[in-house]
Amino acid sequence: MTQADQGGRNARPLPQDLAIDTLGRCLLPSPVTRHLGERGVKFVGEADKVLLDDSISSLTQTVPDTASLPAFELAGPRDKIFFDPRTLRCGIVTCGGLAPGLNNVIRGIVLELWAGYGVRHIVGFRYGYEGLIARLGHQPMMLTPESVASINHEGGTVLGTSRGSQDAGEMVDNLEANGIGILFVLGGDGSMHGALTLSAEIARRGLRIGIIGVPKTIDNDVPFIDRSFGFVSAYSAAVDVIHSARIEAVAARNGIGLVKLMGRHSGFLACQAALASTEADLVLIPEIPVLLEGNNGVFACIERVLARKGHVVIVVAEGAAQDLIVDPDAAPGRVGSRDKSGNAKLKDIGVFLRDRILAYFEKVGRETTVKYIDPSYAIRSIPACPSDSVYCWNMARNAVHAGLAGNTAMLIGRWHGHFVHVPIALATSRTRSVDPDGDLWMSVIEATGQPREFA
Ligand code: F6P
Repeated sequence: MTQADQGGRNARPLPQDLAIDTLGRCLLPSPVTRHLGERGVKFVGEADKVLLDDSISSLTQTVPDTASLPAFELAGPRDKIFFDPRTLRCGIVTCGGLAPGLNNVIRGIVLELWAGYGVRHIVGFRYGYEGLIARLGHQPMMLTPESVASINHEGGTVLGTSRGSQDAGEMVDNLEANGIGILFVLGGDGSMHGALTLSAEIARRGLRIGIIGVPKTIDNDVPFIDRSFGFVSAYSAAVDVIHSARIEAVAARNGIGLVKLMGRHSGFLACQAALASTEADLVLIPEIPVLLEGNNGVFACIERVLARKGHVVIVVAEGAAQDLIVDPDAAPGRVGSRDKSGNAKLKDIGVFLRDRILAYFEKVGRETTVKYIDPSYAIRSIPACPSDSVYCWNMARNAVHAGLAGNTAMLIGRWHGHFVHVPIALATSRTRSVDPDGDLWMSVIEATGQPREFA
């Protein structure tokens, strides 16, 4: 009998063991609402609880119909596997923009395949999905524990990458010709759409080729994954840049430091970097409409911070305030130009803001200095930080376990702190963005003191 069974020191806590003592009833209205603006804040109620143990297997003991509860499959090794490792051939491809940790994931997949399962044939397809198109002539790289041993010390990807989709039929022809049983796709939202199309073509042909996604983006906007790999490295690197911007701003009279960070549709990177730095006074993200003029517009906010501190630090996500920038080439109703992934090409909010702030100060007849820093690619190309390094290794291991078990059309997600299997169809059917009423944005407002909305 274990100690837990005996109700000993490590026994499973009972509901009453989790109750928090209070000093008495709460009768006073919270002032937090005032601070966070008229819309108020989502208060936490008594029913808002987090399950002690959130696995279905443990709930089965208390909840009668657990099968009907929505639940992800937990990632990890299975006792029975689908593929024979002695004959299995695996491929890895990296697609889309860079993210710190790509090389760590490649390395992790190779090591787990090789040492964990004994797979001896692993190839890396070059330059994203292009590498799967035979007529383009990119020769795949053979990957071994020796060849990947120290690639994690460099940023980028040893396989190369590219944006854009390729013909699914041609890609599957190539996978068949190379006898590939599992393809690991490291990529963001666009690449996962590509992976889904690939899986559909494989299914249509009745082939036994698994497609396992490992979501990658410093924007951290893939759904059902609370933290994409490289995100922590990226925002940590951004902290140093924000600090430099502040040093520059402090050194000038009415100094303004302006930092633009990546984040096409979502401001996770800008928010988290601003919070980690503790030095940002104003954060602008795509999810929150931006106004320059007005009592609570950006100019008024800058004036208030200048009056209080003598300098201002602004962090802006690249996708913020796109509606404010007039594109001289855009005819009414015309769809703007797009990159190879189909993303609308963004107008430069950093340069726009810098110029508009300078013009505003000239108009009001006051001197200012704006130091604008755009560290986007410098941040994206660094090696993974220690925390991401561990994370990438665990993502890679779980991707291999999932692949060997014969799973397909899925990616490794992270839900409530667990690595889980997420159908790619589900992950690509929605987007993840900063909730204007959620805790992250509230946290930014409280840290910066900026208004909840610009008006
Ligand atoms: O991977 C997403 C992202 O980081 C976006 O934030 C950014 O707009 C994009 O990559 C830019 O990448 P590239 O210049 O390589 O197309």
